[in-house]
Amino acid sequence: MTAPIEKPAATSGLEGVVAAETRISHVDGENGRLVLAGYDVESLAGRVSFEQVFSLLYEGILPPKMPDDLRARLAEGRAAAFEMVPRFAKAIEAADAMDALRGSMAQLPSNTKDIAVAAAVAVFTAAWIRMQSGEALVPPDLKLDHATDYLRMATGEAPSPIAAAALGTYLVTVSDHSLNASTFTARVIASTNSDTVSAVVGAIGALKGPLHGGAPGPVLDMIDAVGSPERARGWLEAELAAGRRIMGMGHRIYRVRDPRAAVFEKEVEKLERAGLRTARLGLARAIERTAEELLRQKYPARALRANVEFYTAVLLDAVGLPRTAFTPTFAVGRVVGWLAHIREQRESGRLIRPSARYIGVLPRNDVAAHR
Ligand code: COA
Repeated sequence: MTAPIEKPAATSGLEGVVAAETRISHVDGENGRLVLAGYDVESLAGRVSFEQVFSLLYEGILPPKMPDDLRARLAEGRAAAFEMVPRFAKAIEAADAMDALRGSMAQLPSNTKDIAVAAAVAVFTAAWIRMQSGEALVPPDLKLDHATDYLRMATGEAPSPIAAAALGTYLVTVSDHSLNASTFTARVIASTNSDTVSAVVGAIGALKGPLHGGAPGPVLDMIDAVGSPERARGWLEAELAAGRRIMGMGHRIYRVRDPRAAVFEKEVEKLERAGLRTARLGLARAIERTAEELLRQKYPARALRANVEFYTAVLLDAVGLPRTAFTPTFAVGRVVGWLAHIREQRESGRLIRPSARYIGVLPRNDVAAHR
């Protein structure tokens, strides 16, 4: 008789497991607080550029204004990535947005500099958006900041300063979020001493899933399907009765409303005041209120409130991006956190290799010889 294989029970979904030490960001789920390298997200959102948050997370320094050198290096990275697109355009044009991004990023040489990796996410996503509408690709404008140029390359028009600012706020706000699934994936890959491009491609695979970054497109679908505030309750009740999850609600760590939802909601209000098309804001608020109430009734012990994706959908729609490109646009911002975490992981030098509890058949070792 073989002795049973003893191991402690696994922690479901690694919930509550501390798997790294980081200086990059901190999520306080009880109090709804997100700290990015020493700054509350609310103090950065709308005040600093993508380039400044890149410097903050990657170098640990928040420049007081647009860092021109970094801006120029990002722009060079956009130019280099744009040159590559014709080589693989045919292979990605019919693919889903995240498959296209994964395939495009995999074309980068494994020794690509980190800043150029960040730049490429925006260029490849914008190129895919143009291909979907059958329009000519728009080359980067090296004079522009990253957020403005991304929106310009994606829409084919010089964006209004208010729309570009809203997108900048979005990218800064989603730049990092502690050990979320894609960042953890990137750190696991980096911990094997693999290259950064491979780690980012792996992270893109994790981000694609609807339980992580794939929710904002479906949130907009939900808002459209509900159609009017008075239909919200019936629609949501039917979804829950069918055992489906309400997209944009709930979070592994937050037990209160995700602070990023408030940042985006305010940003959409600003767009509305400036006269941009934000017809969905009032409806989104009605759906959020009703969903919260129904989820509270169904899961009284687990606070399921709006997460980052809920108002992401309204914001990205209002700045003119297509819903199919919401998740890769998340990657345009989150790549900053991935790169910072990959770098930090390399500094630690330790392979991430947890254990598993074996619950399979105990060894019998009664294999008959086949030869
Ligand atoms: N709609 C309906 N039910 C939900 C729900 C939602 N949005 N989120 C969680 N639940 C349910 C779960 O199914 C679970 O029920 P069960 O015990 O009957 O299986 C219960 O609430 C507790 O879930 P919890 O432990 O809080 O979820 P999690 O930590 O494993 O998952 C998410 C967190 C984000 C994956 C989950 O809330 C979800 O799927 N949300 C919708 C997708 C989404 O918005 N993703 C973007 C995340 S930023």
